[in-house]
Amino acid sequence: MSEWTSDEAKVGCKAKKDAWSCGENLYMRLLCNDGSHDQMKPLIQLKSIFSKQLPKMPPAYIVRLVFDRNHQSVALFKGPVGKGKVIGGICFRPCKEQDFAEIAFCAVTASEQVKGFGTLIMNHLKACIQKQKIGWFLTYADNYAIGYFAKQGFTKDLTVAKKRWEGYIKDYDGGTMMQCEIHPQIDYTNTKEMIKAQREHIFDKMRSHLKSEVVFDGVVGGPKLTDPYDIPGVHASGWTKEIVEELASKRQAMISLQEQLHSILKDLLNTKFVWPYTKPVDVERYPEYKKIIKDPIDLRMIKQRILAGNFYTSKEIFRKDIQRMCDNCRTFNPTPGNAYYKTAGQVLDFVMPRINAI
Ligand code: COA
Repeated sequence: MSEWTSDEAKVGCKAKKDAWSCGENLYMRLLCNDGSHDQMKPLIQLKSIFSKQLPKMPPAYIVRLVFDRNHQSVALFKGPVGKGKVIGGICFRPCKEQDFAEIAFCAVTASEQVKGFGTLIMNHLKACIQKQKIGWFLTYADNYAIGYFAKQGFTKDLTVAKKRWEGYIKDYDGGTMMQCEIHPQIDYTNTKEMIKAQREHIFDKMRSHLKSEVVFDGVVGGPKLTDPYDIPGVHASGWTKEIVEELASKRQAMISLQEQLHSILKDLLNTKFVWPYTKPVDVERYPEYKKIIKDPIDLRMIKQRILAGNFYTSKEIFRKDIQRMCDNCRTFNPTPGNAYYKTAGQVLDFVMPRINAI
């Protein structure tokens, strides 16, 4: 096959006959069964990889498609050009009239997986399909392959009109149909460089809008300042009186909430029924406690949370902690007449109205 011609050099692959170098000791070829030894030999190697890596596919079916003359395969070779061994590939069927290509099999030999070769092959296949002026990929992916295809830009949300592919594509039980659009202008064999260039462009644009490097004159001399926002640069940095006042009032509200919660806690600690809750349950004495109570809490922990100043951002969070503490007590001591059980009700009766009053 010679679908790829010498101008491939500009997309990062150096053409040598119909082989494209993709790094040290790696090259790619587009194959199709034309009966020649040159095509058949690597296709046999690729067929063996598909059979091994796709054990659920009947071997005879793999043979039929790989050697079918309507199917083509992009194969990745390891070794010197012309002498390498196939280490992975993708078999596909272009359906030019319907503007899509169907991916039949895709695999990388076990010892070479998760090294980026699956992506490399897919990118070259995309470039190849783009060259054939086909707009879409379609494939049936099984559950294991969905993640890989998703990383290659495939999606389960189909936008290709059904009439375009229905009856033209092989249906697999349990497979999920996925699609990928091939953009005519994306250089798929050079995506790393392209993304790098895009990032640099965005950062350049951001830099041109940033004012962080602007140095303002100081405030020595001149008219007396009455407002700190008149200091050159303060306003330009985005600070306004409203923002500062809002932050200050939020901070004040938080301080006030913590003070009120602390006051409730202090009053609770002075009651007669608080004794089971002042410190964590002794799990050495009650080893089964950890199994029964998955989320323990006690007043010592609640006090630390209040003192942290930023844990109880609302009274509802405090309410839930108190409720959980009492629920834990009743779960561990489920008999209503039990002394521990009784204290849970007393704590709730004491604390809840006070929380409501905040
Ligand atoms: N599920 C989820 N993610 C997967 C994945 C899977 N089965 N296989 C690979 N990925 C991820 C990789 O972690 C990597 O992610 P990253 O870019 O964030 O690091 C990305 O896909 C590409 O990995 P890459 O190293 O380029 O792929 P690969 O060389 O391992 O080849 C397969 C991927 C699927 C071809 C290969 O694992 C394989 O041959 N599997 C068995 C056959 C198979 O299931 N084929 C697909 C159906 S036809």
